[in-house]
Amino acid sequence: MKTMKFVSAALVLIFLLAACAPAAATQAPAQATTAPAAAAKKTYTDMTLCYPQLGAESDWRTANTASFKETATKLGVKLIFSDAQQKQENQISAIRSCIQQGVSVIALPPVVETGWDAVLQEAKDANIPVIVVDRSVSAPASLYSAHIGSDMEIEGKRSAAEFNKMLPNGGNILELSGTTGSGAAVGRAKGFREALNANIKILDSQTGNFTRAEGKPVMEAFLKKYAGQIQGVFFHNDDMAIGAVEAIKAAGIKPGDLKMVSIDGTRGGFQLMIDGWLQADVECNPLLGPQTMDLALKLMNGEPITKEVLTDESVYYPDKAAELLPTRKY
Ligand code: AHR
Repeated sequence: MKTMKFVSAALVLIFLLAACAPAAATQAPAQATTAPAAAAKKTYTDMTLCYPQLGAESDWRTANTASFKETATKLGVKLIFSDAQQKQENQISAIRSCIQQGVSVIALPPVVETGWDAVLQEAKDANIPVIVVDRSVSAPASLYSAHIGSDMEIEGKRSAAEFNKMLPNGGNILELSGTTGSGAAVGRAKGFREALNANIKILDSQTGNFTRAEGKPVMEAFLKKYAGQIQGVFFHNDDMAIGAVEAIKAAGIKPGDLKMVSIDGTRGGFQLMIDGWLQADVECNPLLGPQTMDLALKLMNGEPITKEVLTDESVYYPDKAAELLPTRKY
């Protein structure tokens, strides 16, 4: 019995050796292992960009929307565009819908500064990078990838510098402010107050919500309340200035009677300078589509980016307005 077991074990061993040996002999020499192929670089045609636009309140905004739509078409980016009609809740719903659709990147022009933390966290949890565009948010910087836009405080400071030059002996002015709580209105008001000479007093400040329609009645009310007491008006944007000028004209005030400065540098603002109503227009550039999509592509490819991208801007004056108007893109 013992001999039988020994023979069987020996036979199994011989069989196994026989089975392995030819295989080893016929195997091809081991290939040098190649590194896994690097992930192909993504291009614009791989991008789905979500742009929950905040509204259509001004010529600036119209130009900003056009910049995103035209750039997307040119580059082959799929753009998911919506208009929130100046309502934060609409922007938040649009962002949530984009997250569900699994977009590549969200570019958010926030109507106001606060109230974004929860939805930004949702985008982060879904691994969708967010670029804050135009106005700022007050959310922690870890919740978004970058901000591209204007330095609103500098725009306010530049506006104040114009009043300091025009009213060296001081005076009383009024302010038509942008949307309450928006980064643009908050920053411009702050920078303006920081740089305004102490002898210039802001008698009143009311919002015209960045629109012509609201700028006009605010100015009408101002003119009734402060008749004969003011030397100037500061407008947070050109559309409110255009609306207000209708009220100013109707009150019998002539171009140049009041010192007026606005922000944006739109064609409408240039026309106000040509007509003698505005003494300076501080630039705020809305053409942010190309920069945003360039940055979005870098994020998709994991390339290094700059967190805060500020637009290079200047101040326009009436002396060059007629010459420059035909060259203005917005
Ligand atoms: O946030 C930019 C501002 O928004 C522009 O100055 C204004 O015209 C727009 O509505």
